[in-house]
Amino acid sequence: MSDSSANLVSDPVLAEEVQLHRALGPLHLTLIGIGATIGAGIFVIAGNVAAEHAGPAVLLSFVIAATGCFFAALCYAELAAMIPQAGSAYTYTYATMGRFMAWFIGWNMVLEFGMSASTVAAGWSGYFLNLLNQLGIDYPPGWANAPIAGTGITDLHFTGAVMNLPAAIMMLLITWILVVGITESARFNAVMVAVKVGIIALVILFGLPHIHEANFHPFIPENTGVRGHFGISGVLAASATIFFAYVGFETVSVGAQETKNPERDVSISILAALGVCTLLYVLMSAVLLGITDYHLLDVPDPVSFALARDPNLKWLVFPVNIAAIAGLISVAFGSMYGQSRVFYGMARDGFLPPAFASVHPKFRTPHVCTIIVGVVGAAIAAIFPLDILADLVSIGTLCAFIAVCVGIMILRITAPKRPRKFRTPFVWFVAPAGILVCGTMMFSLSLGTWVRLLVWTALGLLIYFVYGIRHAAPSKWSVSDES
Ligand code: ALA
Repeated sequence: MSDSSANLVSDPVLAEEVQLHRALGPLHLTLIGIGATIGAGIFVIAGNVAAEHAGPAVLLSFVIAATGCFFAALCYAELAAMIPQAGSAYTYTYATMGRFMAWFIGWNMVLEFGMSASTVAAGWSGYFLNLLNQLGIDYPPGWANAPIAGTGITDLHFTGAVMNLPAAIMMLLITWILVVGITESARFNAVMVAVKVGIIALVILFGLPHIHEANFHPFIPENTGVRGHFGISGVLAASATIFFAYVGFETVSVGAQETKNPERDVSISILAALGVCTLLYVLMSAVLLGITDYHLLDVPDPVSFALARDPNLKWLVFPVNIAAIAGLISVAFGSMYGQSRVFYGMARDGFLPPAFASVHPKFRTPHVCTIIVGVVGAAIAAIFPLDILADLVSIGTLCAFIAVCVGIMILRITAPKRPRKFRTPFVWFVAPAGILVCGTMMFSLSLGTWVRLLVWTALGLLIYFVYGIRHAAPSKWSVSDES
């Protein structure tokens, strides 16, 4: 066990049980972070919000969202180094704010990881179908679309489709890879990340010389008179939606218990993953907005669409479809990985039945959690469309980020002398700034999203009061200067 974890309040049961396999290094972790992050946000949402809210200034929206993430990442880095356990923000909250808040944050992380895997899988099948079309293969659309559509509560309706079968199959395949081993999983992820980052780099390299300066004028299109439709309010609204593109970089912290040197590697990898994603997002959206008029980008595949319109760049459409497919697979993979580890952490604390905490004796992965997450996620991906939950995923993640920013300040007060292998610089500025920027993004999300968050929270409270409160043990990871 690592130094800091040895200092945590010890649990005799944990010493006896099968431990997760410590196989990951900083490169694996950074790749898991990048893999879990670059997906629908850049391949779909960036073009859509440019067309609807921000125009070329979507570049600014990316920077604003990245700023909130950067403050939160600095706080994650310190906590991950102090509490290097599976469970991420959930575990940190249990250690700093107690049982009730831990459940609240853990429950929101289910939104973040579980739902985003299904959401992204649902979007994946669209690109997959595009690719099959390009290859001249016919696939019945009724078996590749969600049977339900609509983003609100009153506009839900049936589409006539049977189910999104490719999405469900993709989720089940990822489940299988996650069950057979962390090393195999990390390898699979590395290949997916290499494909998507390589092709994004190609688009940037070949696309930059074809940018037309005129497409950036005006950089911030004038507000239409409706709040959030261009102008400064549009840029802010776009940053709340584009935040979805960053969801996932903190998956790195979920892997602490499977990392060889978590106190050092998790902190470095969180910041590295966020830095790489931000750079790629800004450059890629500069190409996207520079080669096309932003008005045209409200389509399901904005990047391919924009490239297809330029004869010099048309050849990139096929590789981009491949990159989108690989990208979305690795995001779903990272999200499911995160979800199974958060459930694992919650089950070890007694919030969920003990079966969730069992580790496979041969593969040394939390197989029961993983299979339950995979099967439920596959069902959701088969039935629901992509857009129905994207903002819900963002609001759940922003809750977790704010909890981490609060948690770090609490620990600086309650355990000031405890060794910190990574110390967040200027913490009394960084943590409140993280709360402010993430809170502003939360409040920029729609009323409907807040209503859904409240419904989700009510369901969580029901489970907490019926099961969790009676079974949850005190946090095993509470830290103080004495422990
Ligand atoms: N950040 C992830 C994506 O953009 C969820 O798909």
